[in-house]
Amino acid sequence: MPRIAYVNGRYLPMSEASVNVEDRGYQFADGIYEVLALAGGRFLDEALHMARLGRSLDALGIAAPMGAAALRLVLREVVRRNRVRDGLLYLQVTRGVARREHAFPPPSKRTGRPVPPALVVTCRSLAPPPHDPVDWAAAAITAPDERWARCDIKSIALLPNVLAKERARREGAAEAILVDRDGLVSEGASTTVWVVDAAGTLRTRPLGHAILPGCTRAALVAELDAAGIGFEERAVAEHELRAAREVFLTSATSWVRPVTRLDGVAVGDGTAGPVARRLFALLRNPVRDAASSPAVPHRVSPGVAVPA
Ligand code: PDD
Repeated sequence: MPRIAYVNGRYLPMSEASVNVEDRGYQFADGIYEVLALAGGRFLDEALHMARLGRSLDALGIAAPMGAAALRLVLREVVRRNRVRDGLLYLQVTRGVARREHAFPPPSKRTGRPVPPALVVTCRSLAPPPHDPVDWAAAAITAPDERWARCDIKSIALLPNVLAKERARREGAAEAILVDRDGLVSEGASTTVWVVDAAGTLRTRPLGHAILPGCTRAALVAELDAAGIGFEERAVAEHELRAAREVFLTSATSWVRPVTRLDGVAVGDGTAGPVARRLFALLRNPVRDAASSPAVPHRVSPGVAVPA
């Protein structure tokens, strides 16, 4: 069965799915994206991702490609056509197709209408996360944060992230933890970074322009609050990262992923720590329970009808 992509109004086999060479995403990285996880045929944290999509579009002055209800239908149709139960959905909106000039394209001379944004949606299966994060532990490296000053916008301009991730891969690691010019941890190349510091305090960087407001971060914060587990939104210095008892990453596709080696050195005792394990269970359980319970827990969206 070929994979199907949604491209500007059409559902097409991947081999036929293509965009115009003058798409501003292709020429200027003038666009934004979202990645949603699917678990058991349901989107996780859909409302958070849709809210962030709206914020990213507003920040760059790109019009929404369609209304929220229509977009929900398109996302579900892509999942359905690809028969994905566990995996990820990628959606990208660019400023559209126009003759290459840096400033925003003017309205069409012929119709007087603004250039429409371009929407592409793809979906693919991934193995569901393990039951125990011990089987999910990863190595990470540190790398300088060479990105722009608005990392809170989920822009498709990811070259510094790509270079950092490639460096990690070459060094046998799964993630690059980015350290800013002040020696503070910003985030991973594609993840939020959390630590349990030497004093035992669970910490992550406060939201702001320096990091992406992770949807998994927000979901985890809600779970922490509900469970009465304390944490601090306080930036972690590089030396604190190296002295941490635990380091772990969160993202839509990595859930809670323990980092057990950093730059080749064991983190803590070199195994997934108790806090990471507990938080992994906090994030995973509502989703797992959704499969057996008709009541839909708060992280899980109803209604992605994926044929078995
Ligand atoms: N990455 N920080 C960065 C730089 C990211 O790219 C991501 C997500 C996150 C975590 O955000 P969330 O919890 O909403 O997934 C943090 C996605 C998965 C990606 O680029 O593939």
